[in-house]
Amino acid sequence: MTYRHLIDISSLGADTLRTILTMSNDPAVASVRPLSGRGAALIFEKPSNRTRHSMEMAVVQLGGHPVYTRGEEVGFDVRETVEDITRIMAGYHAVLAARVFSHSVVQRMAACNVVPVINMLSDEAHPLQALADVLTMEEHCGPVSGLTVAWLGDYNNVARSLAEAVCLLGGTMSFACPHGYNASDAELKRLTSLGGTVRQSLDPIEAVAGAHVVHTDTWISMGQESEAAERRAIFSPYCVTSSVMASAHNNVKFMHCMPAHRGEEVTADVFDSASSLVIQQGHHRLTSARGAIAWVIGE
Ligand code: CP
Ligand code: NVA
Repeated sequence: MTYRHLIDISSLGADTLRTILTMSNDPAVASVRPLSGRGAALIFEKPSNRTRHSMEMAVVQLGGHPVYTRGEEVGFDVRETVEDITRIMAGYHAVLAARVFSHSVVQRMAACNVVPVINMLSDEAHPLQALADVLTMEEHCGPVSGLTVAWLGDYNNVARSLAEAVCLLGGTMSFACPHGYNASDAELKRLTSLGGTVRQSLDPIEAVAGAHVVHTDTWISMGQESEAAERRAIFSPYCVTSSVMASAHNNVKFMHCMPAHRGEEVTADVFDSASSLVIQQGHHRLTSARGAIAWVIGE
């Protein structure tokens, strides 16, 4: 038997990505309570608001019982190996979900092939966020295949998963990232091979031309706190301001995975504007968590 996992978006392929999005939007998925009498382990090596709460409530809505665990309590490769933890927890739970520093930890959990595994954010990917981002865009802007999505700032975990989703669905990604924090040529080629159109610039105004969505994230991801001063200086030209938004499509929407830092990656007037979808996007974390869990457990 081979279990289903959600480790990154690109390995799903376009058809499965669309299946998960459809399941996310289908209220019948929860009504059959596919996790009835079963557990879900939610392990966090890093802090969380949206991911913890949306995943816990998704498990409850699917009829199961979530068990929240801090990373240091299980101690991946500290108390015991990732594989020992995974094989033991597979006897208690229908799904294991983890937020980890190293992407290899969730890959190793999945490779055990004893229980479905969901990546709740690693240094490389944030697939649950990308699902919510696409649900939000399609609800407010139309099919991704017709959209240009601009990303300003750091080419990080959130950017990579979003770009994979947009490309798999046939949309256009337009990056503006500083040197050293951008997607490499090989990465741009990989994204293009997924089926979309990709462009990259050093200039935010050039990158947002024609964009239906402008998306950004913190300049200082969890674990990068010691680089904060250097990063603030390097990224400051990439702040999403009202003049950046005015250079995009005339009905452009602003998106951010949150937590946000007004006055750094986005100005307060943009973040709190009528064009901002950040709250709807955050609420779709619950919708997408339901769809993702239901899909990995095979319902
Ligand atoms: N966007 C997101 O994953 O938020 P949390 O870190 O609060 O879970
Ligand atoms: N890029 C951010 C996303 C937080 C949800 C981080 O990794 O901290």
